[in-house]
Amino acid sequence: MGPFLITNPPAERFLQYWYYEQDAEEALPPTVYELLNQVMTLESEQIGELSLQGRSFVIIISPLYNLKSVRGAVAVVRDMTEERRLDKLRKDFIANVSHELRTPISMLQGYSEAIVDDVAETPEEKKEIAKIIYDESLRMGRLVNDLLDLARMEAGHVTIRREEVEIIPFIERIVTKFNGVAKEKGISLGVKISEDVNRDSWLQVDGDKLEQVFTNLIDNAIRHTPAHGHVSVTIESLVSSYLFTVSDTGSGIPEEDLPFIFERFYKADKARTRGRSGTGLGLAIAKNIVDAHEGQISVQSKYDHGTKFLVNIPKIK
Ligand SMILES: Nc1ncnc2c1ncn2[C@@H]1O[C@H](COP(=O)(O)OP(=O)(O)O)[C@@H](O)[C@H]1O
Ligand SMILES: [Mg+2]
Repeated sequence: MGPFLITNPPAERFLQYWYYEQDAEEALPPTVYELLNQVMTLESEQIGELSLQGRSFVIIISPLYNLKSVRGAVAVVRDMTEERRLDKLRKDFIANVSHELRTPISMLQGYSEAIVDDVAETPEEKKEIAKIIYDESLRMGRLVNDLLDLARMEAGHVTIRREEVEIIPFIERIVTKFNGVAKEKGISLGVKISEDVNRDSWLQVDGDKLEQVFTNLIDNAIRHTPAHGHVSVTIESLVSSYLFTVSDTGSGIPEEDLPFIFERFYKADKARTRGRSGTGLGLAIAKNIVDAHEGQISVQSKYDHGTKFLVNIPKIK
C-alpha cells in the first residue's frame, strides 16, 4: 500500500490502472506527485487531471493539518470518463453542424456573387447557377429540419401519436413514392409480403413518423445501389411483432463502420458529400423513432454486396 494510510475501492481501481500501465515501481503517477508537492508547499487544495487506460480522472488533493503544520494530504479521485465522453460528443456535434452549414453557405455566396458580377453570359448559364442556389437552399432547409427533429427527440419530446395503420397499404404507398427514382436509376424495387400478414393487418403506431423511417431506409438503399441492382422491402409477422426489412444489392457498408451507422452525421463514404446526398441524420432520427415505439432497428451488411436494415415493431400497445 506504500505511502497510503487508507484507500477506498474507486481509489484502488485507479491505482490498479496505474500499476498496470507503468513498468517502474512508482507508487503514484508523476502528475499526482507534482500535485502533492504543491499541496505540501503551498498548503492549499490542488486540482489536476490525468488519463489512465483510456479513462479520465480528476484528482483533488487537500492538505491535512496537524495543529500547525501539514502532516499529509487527502486525495479525492473522480472517474470523469462519461462526462468527458459527453463533452466530446457535444463538441463534435457542433463542429459537424458548422461544417454541414458552411458548405452550402459558401456555395450560396459563390454562385450568387457570380450572378451579381454578371459572370454568367447566357440565360442558360444564369439558370444553371440559379438552380444550384435553389438546390443548396433546399439542402440547408432539410438539414435544419432534421436537426430540429433530432434535437426535439433527444430532449425526450418525441410525441408518438398512435393510430391504427394498415400495414400493407402503408408500406406499398411509401414504396410507390420511389418507383420513379428507381426506374430512372435502373433499379428494381419491390415489396414481398409473407403469407402470415393479411391485407387488413394493422399496427397501432405513429404513421407519419414510421413513414419517415421507411422513406429514409428506401432512399438510402436506392442511393447506394448502382444500375441493375435490386431493392426490396419485406413484411413478416412474428409472434409479438412485425418485422420489416429493406435490402439492397448496393455498395454495402464497411464492417468497421457498422457500429457507428446510427450516430448523428455518420457518413460511411466521407468523400461523397455533394450531389443528392443526405444530411447524415436520417438513421439517427430513424433509431429515435423506432425506440419511441419500443421497437428495434438493426443492420447487416457486406461490403460491395449489399445491405439489409431490419425494423421490428411490437404488435401490442
Ligand atoms: N443502404 C445503404 N447502403 C450503403 N450505405 C448506407 C446505406 N444506408 C446508409 N448508409 C450509410 O450510412 C450513412 C448514414 O445514413 P443516413 O443517416 O440516412 O444519412 P444520409 O442518408 O443523410 O447520408 C450514409 O451516408 C451512408 O454512408
Ligand atoms: Mg438517409
